[in-house]
Amino acid sequence: TEKRSIFELIGGQEKVDELVDAFYHLVSKHPDLTPIFPDDLTETVRKQKQFLTQFLGGPLLYNEEHGHPKLRMRHLPFEITPSRKDAWLSCMDQALVKVKMEEPYHTIVLERLTRTAHHMMNTPENEK
Ligand code: HEM
Repeated sequence: TEKRSIFELIGGQEKVDELVDAFYHLVSKHPDLTPIFPDDLTETVRKQKQFLTQFLGGPLLYNEEHGHPKLRMRHLPFEITPSRKDAWLSCMDQALVKVKMEEPYHTIVLERLTRTAHHMMNTPENEK
């Protein structure tokens, strides 16, 4: 029997879209994050919906349109300090609550994103 992906288990595209919308709503109000994000998050939201879909085991929507994610490289233009990493994860934690993500999925999703977020840091705190 096929093992179902996290993507399917949490409720598929509808749930991922809801999560990403809730997440960027919080990002757009977070003082540590607004300086590095564009004012218009429309395209950012669209790409993140594609990326998180495949990150959680759903269809490879991001790769189909943009090729290999090369996430660390794509984040190099932005100063990602430890505090910005924490802010990003805090917004994601709150977004997971907002969309009523059930356990164990809240914890599983946040843990996977925490590991990826660590790789995005590229600037020490005092150089911010
Ligand atoms: C793009 C910040 C972590 C996935 C971006 C952008 C910023 C950013 C400023 C550019 C937005 C734009 O110009 O549209 C951060 C910060 C993080 C973080 C501060 C804290 C650690 C992550 C993580 C993931 C991720 C953990 C994946 C799980 C993406 C994707 C894009 C993106 C897919 C779009 C890339 C593209 O342009 O194709 N991020 N990010 N980010 N981020 Fe992050």
